[in-house]
Amino acid sequence: MKWPSIIQRYCSRPPATVKWQGIIERYRSRLPVTESTPVISLSEGNTPLIHAPRFAKAIGLEADVYFKYEALNPTCSFKDRGMTLAVSKAKERGAQVVVCASTGNTSAAAAAYAARAGILSAVILPNGKIAMGKLAQAMIYGAKVLAIEGNFDEALRLVRELGSQPGVEIVNSINPVRIEGQKTAAFEICDFLGEAPHFHFLPVGNAGNITAYWRGYQEYFNDKITTRTPKMFGYQAAGSAPIVENRIIEKPETVATAIRIGNPASWEGAKSAIAQSQGQIDKVTDEEILEGYRLIAQSEGIFAEPASAASAAGIMKAHREGKIPAGSIITATLTGHGLKDPDAAIRVSPNGVTVVPSNLESILKALKL
Ligand SMILES: Cc1ncc(COP(=O)(O)O)c(C=O)c1O
Repeated sequence: MKWPSIIQRYCSRPPATVKWQGIIERYRSRLPVTESTPVISLSEGNTPLIHAPRFAKAIGLEADVYFKYEALNPTCSFKDRGMTLAVSKAKERGAQVVVCASTGNTSAAAAAYAARAGILSAVILPNGKIAMGKLAQAMIYGAKVLAIEGNFDEALRLVRELGSQPGVEIVNSINPVRIEGQKTAAFEICDFLGEAPHFHFLPVGNAGNITAYWRGYQEYFNDKITTRTPKMFGYQAAGSAPIVENRIIEKPETVATAIRIGNPASWEGAKSAIAQSQGQIDKVTDEEILEGYRLIAQSEGIFAEPASAASAAGIMKAHREGKIPAGSIITATLTGHGLKDPDAAIRVSPNGVTVVPSNLESILKALKL
């Protein structure tokens, strides 16, 4: 690493003795808040950027791969970055209720931040298509949970209609402050590395996050904090890949329920991010997603939910296609925690559970020791 990068890295990070108070306090000057905005925070952000040499070696990639592990946010997904800002602004405007459509993670984050703000939350979900951990979160945080016989796209349409009611604030990523909050993950990556990566990989559903990261990378570049911007590589699930196929998917399907979206709200944002960064949008099959899911867990000890693993599967695919030059610095976002969907982990785990009699001999035999 060059000297200016090292200096920048340590100068732009808060000293270890400064208490982390969430992304609004850390990046206040870059966010749409004023002194009179009440800060509703759960100390989100400051998530680890985990170096993953064993993953890179396992796929034969000679590059530095880092996973931005957003699972370590307070509600265990990246949504908390946008939600701290969305709910703070809702409180500032005197909203009585925050509403969202969700594939699960947005509802968990909305419900948690609304509880902390003392505002009601209502979440509209596709019935039976939400991982159990996410549903449990929304319920325990006290949200009014409404499940519809329809998919995410229909839920979002209903939320748009609800948003015209007085006192109601939409906290989906169609609310522009959500994107503003989420761009802070790109700041953290650059602060940590002392420079922007060469490539950034991430899963794409409603396409808010790819839009947000690109905005963050551009902002640091324009302010000369970094000297380059990464190529943005977004990945949709093959059964719900509207941007890749350039058409609305009426009945999206994938094991990665968080990105089961057929008509992304930030479609244009994603297209700009890809075009301006000279990146790409592609799709990965459910089999490829699950391969990435198992590999990051078993090679690096990192447990992320299936949708998150689309970014790992994307690295694997892009490498197979020869798109990653040796020596590249690659970052990839792992968007949500694996524990949100324990059923998926148990379903695809290779070893299962071996029931043995309760004695040492049987255990040694089972372990072949
Ligand atoms: C775990 C997870 N990964 C990825 C995404 C996709 O993010 P975006 O909708 O911003 O593209 C979501 C969205 O809900 C998600 O919950």
